[in-house]
Amino acid sequence: MTTYKLLLLPGDGIGPEVMAEVERVVAVLGEAGLASFETETDLVGGAAVDAHGVPLADATLARARAADAILLGAVGGPKWTGVAYENRPEAGLLRLRKDLLLFANLRPALCYPALADASALKRELVEGLDIMIVRELTGGVYFGEPKEITTLPDGSKRAVDTQVYTTGEIDRIARVAFDLARKRGNRVASVEKNNVMKSGVLWKEVVTQLHAAEYADVELEHVLADNCAMQLVRRPKQYDVLVTDNLFGDILSDAASMLTGSLGMLPSASLGEVGADGTRAALYEPVHGSAPDIAGKDAANPLAMIGSLAMCLRYSFGLGEAADLVDGAITDALAGGARTRDIASEDSKVLGTKGMGEAVVAALKSRI
Ligand code: NAI
Ligand code: MG
Repeated sequence: MTTYKLLLLPGDGIGPEVMAEVERVVAVLGEAGLASFETETDLVGGAAVDAHGVPLADATLARARAADAILLGAVGGPKWTGVAYENRPEAGLLRLRKDLLLFANLRPALCYPALADASALKRELVEGLDIMIVRELTGGVYFGEPKEITTLPDGSKRAVDTQVYTTGEIDRIARVAFDLARKRGNRVASVEKNNVMKSGVLWKEVVTQLHAAEYADVELEHVLADNCAMQLVRRPKQYDVLVTDNLFGDILSDAASMLTGSLGMLPSASLGEVGADGTRAALYEPVHGSAPDIAGKDAANPLAMIGSLAMCLRYSFGLGEAADLVDGAITDALAGGARTRDIASEDSKVLGTKGMGEAVVAALKSRI
């Protein structure tokens, strides 16, 4: 069995607490012979600022490059609001994304049956929901030039952001979506605004051509971004994989996440390009931040972090069976009534971070 190198970057706030639960899951998988890992742990974010004066040391970046995958907890917190802008904890995460060219952000929105009543929508609209949003992460209007605020002759100001996409950038993100769809429900909805944006016209054209040339077996529809936002609230289960640009993806993935309950439940993946040797850089992290309000209180929900491990098993290592077991253990723990405070209802018994980790480990062991 291949031994994979896993770099753990717990970070700040609740990051180390939720990462500790992942380590227990990793240990169980190892003991059962389902996966073999060599794990290393290093600092990122405020923890790295405290130790090295920078939020991501060069040595850590080198370790990240050498690893087969990275699991990151969360960065940031009030302790570091005074540090220079370029050294703020979030800059460590941004540097990782940028230096490893992590262009594809995968955000699943999955509704666990046991939590269907925690959704912002009615149970029947979300029960069984399983969407994957694929967001382009390194291009588009957040990075396009020119990007500036200038002063006009009359003293008023003018702000410019520029949406730029090339054929290559659209093609590679669309491939990620089509490949994922083939392993899921085999349907892709491509989201843009070709009615008012040139980048949308090119987006639609490139996706259409790629589909015809290489992915004709996958069902494809084109959806305007504003309509997509409406459909996500009206009838979210119509979608399987959604692929979209950086800006629309930011907004739509946040909206979709609220269909499923809590921030503490949401994993994510960020993938780089496939290299000549067939491997790709990959970072897995919960969507939530460092939650300073509950840090150190054994109150954080570790399921987003544990779900991120499951994504890592599935997408970086091709260990679908182990990934299914971990996802199944989360489902079982929830079905058995395990709840952290963020997903508890009035009558549930509330577990801490460790208690939820234990519930998942117990469920995992009984599945194995
Ligand atoms: P946050 O996600 O840390 O917290 C928002 C709310 O959700 C808080 O009330 C928190 O207690 C709750 N929450 C978050 N994760 C939870 C979990 N696993 N279990 C239970 N409750 C949970 O976002 P916020 O408060 O805006 O930011 C706090 C710090 O985190 C800031 O320094 C921010 O910059 C940073 N941040 C880091 C991110 C990352 O590392 N990727 C992402 C978002 C924020
Ligand atoms: Mg966002």
